[in-house]
Amino acid sequence: MPGDADPLVLHAPYFAIAAPGLEPVLTTELTALGLRAQATPGGAGFHGDLRELYEANLRSRVASRVLVRVAAFRATAFYELEKRARRVPWERFLPAGGAVAFRITARASRLYHEGAIEERLLEAVARVGGAPAPATLDEEEGERAQVFVVRVVRDHFVISADASGALLHRRGYRQAVAKAPLRETMAAAMLMASGWDLHSPLVDPFCGSGTIPIEAALMARRIPPGLASPGLEPRRFAFQHWADFDPVLWASVVERAQEGVQAAAPGPILALDRDAGAIAATRSNARRADVLVDLDTGMRPLSTLEAPAGPGWLVTNPPYGKRVGEASPLRDLYATLGRVARERLPGWKLAFLSADRRLEAQVWLKLREILRTTNGGLPVRLMVARVPLEPVDARTDGGSS
Ligand SMILES: C[S@@+](CC[C@H](N)C(=O)[O-])C[C@H]1O[C@@H](n2cnc3c(N)ncnc32)[C@H](O)[C@@H]1O
Repeated sequence: MPGDADPLVLHAPYFAIAAPGLEPVLTTELTALGLRAQATPGGAGFHGDLRELYEANLRSRVASRVLVRVAAFRATAFYELEKRARRVPWERFLPAGGAVAFRITARASRLYHEGAIEERLLEAVARVGGAPAPATLDEEEGERAQVFVVRVVRDHFVISADASGALLHRRGYRQAVAKAPLRETMAAAMLMASGWDLHSPLVDPFCGSGTIPIEAALMARRIPPGLASPGLEPRRFAFQHWADFDPVLWASVVERAQEGVQAAAPGPILALDRDAGAIAATRSNARRADVLVDLDTGMRPLSTLEAPAGPGWLVTNPPYGKRVGEASPLRDLYATLGRVARERLPGWKLAFLSADRRLEAQVWLKLREILRTTNGGLPVRLMVARVPLEPVDARTDGGSS
């Protein structure tokens, strides 16, 4: 599609949003879920009915939210916008209390003042009982505003309703955090992009609060992210307060997902970190996700890694650090990662997030970039390598590319 096309000006009724760079992984995932999905900048459009909407929300591990297109029209003056906005079926989406919030972006259009557009839309919503979300709205208490995403590109308005509510990376299990945690959606995308087969051993030597091993266990046991809790209880989604919510259909979607859950992960999943607090956080998060039985946790430094019989996958998010000097401990850490892989993990696949080319060069394996995205606002790349079967000498194997 043309470079400046707006993702929401598509014909698919649904749009799953993903972090930039994760669109191909998301599209592959949605396709594997049986949805007709098309990658687009910012996410993937997909087709279907209510069942597909519920499935995508419950099962996508990579999407950060799912939108439903509500209205599309052209307006070049405020009186036109007012007229069109009055015809939008807002009432179908209003929660109890009617709290709404708009996320508006406008470009290359005659109506470009986002505040003035919001004012007109709020007037239209007020006619059917909607009101701006009060600042005191308590998200933790489950009291939520209905979010509408409004894109205006070259005078075309596309209004979408957020079907997810709390962002989908909030599975609910990660309440204990260690340093620099990864988003759950990013951890899942790393695992999928690494090609992990769900049954070979998986090791994260820098597990922090356990996001990668916990997401791996959820994947291996086929627990949808929306059911990551003891008792496989589903989390809440915004579509559950919509006028067209079908509780019987939703119950059948949830039940089918619960029936598909496996009793145990087929292969070992190791969650290791040298920090005691990180291991405690990993264990309490895994308990909340109900996958603690699937993890082998251990407080140990990378240098003492003992891998299970492989080959398997080492997938990790190592520490980065902003300024890396010549003799920094981080350079040594990346060199140790490469040495440990070459000596103890022959034939394994290595996949790690890298924010620094000088650090990744220390790993001394032939690296290939498979994803580019951001993590905590920092540009990062997912690098992968296959560890040679024969131990290689760091000085003669040619280094990373
Ligand atoms: C960027 S954090 C990982 C965050 C994790 N992905 C999460 O979602 O919480 C890096 C982790 O590496 C650990 N670490 C640093 N040096 C280590 C070493 N030599 N051996 C093992 N763990 C180490 C730190 O304790 C920290 O928890």
